Amino acid sequence: MGGLMEGRAGLVTGAASGIGRACALRFAREGAAVIVADLPSAGRGAEETVAQITADGGRSAYVPCDVSSAADNEALVAHVVQRFGKLDFAHNNAGIGVHRRLHETSDEDFDRVIAVNLRGTFLGPKHQIRQMLGNDPPFRGAIVSTSSNAGLRAVTMLSAYAASKHGILGLTKNAAVEYAEEGIRVNAVCPGAIMTPLMSDQPPERQREILAPQAMTRFGDPAEVAAAVVWLCSAEASFVTGVALPVDAGSVAWVSAHRS
Ligand SMILES: NC(=O)c1ccc[n+]([C@@H]2O[C@H](COP(=O)([O-])OP(=O)(O)OC[C@H]3O[C@@H](n4cnc5c(N)ncnc54)[C@H](O)[C@@H]3O)[C@@H](O)[C@H]2O)c1
Repeated sequence: MGGLMEGRAGLVTGAASGIGRACALRFAREGAAVIVADLPSAGRGAEETVAQITADGGRSAYVPCDVSSAADNEALVAHVVQRFGKLDFAHNNAGIGVHRRLHETSDEDFDRVIAVNLRGTFLGPKHQIRQMLGNDPPFRGAIVSTSSNAGLRAVTMLSAYAASKHGILGLTKNAAVEYAEEGIRVNAVCPGAIMTPLMSDQPPERQREILAPQAMTRFGDPAEVAAAVVWLCSAEASFVTGVALPVDAGSVAWVSAHRS
């Protein structure tokens, strides 16, 4: 039996590590050809993702890409089409965080977080949609962006990050509405605390602080986010667009419960 993404081709950004890697592996396991995109400095990790996919019999290649660059996003889409003949799905996942209270966040850090997380999630879909509009109707493509539970609520010490992740949800809803009748679905996932380098690089007390408002008291595994991302990109989610899907062990529900 074929997988959920059999015959599809697409890309995952930030796929050298963590959630992006897990998503690229899952897309490939479900039958898709996947371009692994990440910074040149993450080339080794990206090649490792590609090696894991190809060892499993999948089709993949690494394309260096800085998601904050318009030229890189345009070239990335062109590369997927050149290599696999089309672009069916895209997962805009690359992201960074700066853990500081608002008044201690430097202007440079704020700009950097916005450039990668928000501008990157504007530029990616912009070029992906331009390509997908050329696909045959009725189902022209599916896009998922990685927001965060910090896109739905406050997370202390993450002002710039929360601003960028809330912004991603605005872009997602707008794109979903603008392209719904043209057969392109656009959704977002909002992960809770997932054990990746983004998390393990933080001191233990900060990790505990981030974990605290979760109903399930464990860290998530990147594969648990990948299951949601791949489903949203698949035909199984054909009537789903414009959603911000928490994959967050009840952290958004927990905060709401506290307020009521
Ligand atoms: N880990 C968590 O708890 C958590 C929770 C919610 C949301 N997220 C989001 O999930 C996404 C993936 O994070 P992760 O936890 O897997 O972290 P990670 O650090 O393991 O992976 C992030 C990847 O993005 C890449 N990247 C960074 N800047 C880039 C750029 N300008 N262009 C291209 N690639 C770039 C990095 O090289 C890295 O490979 C991020 O958007 C993050 O904000 C993570």
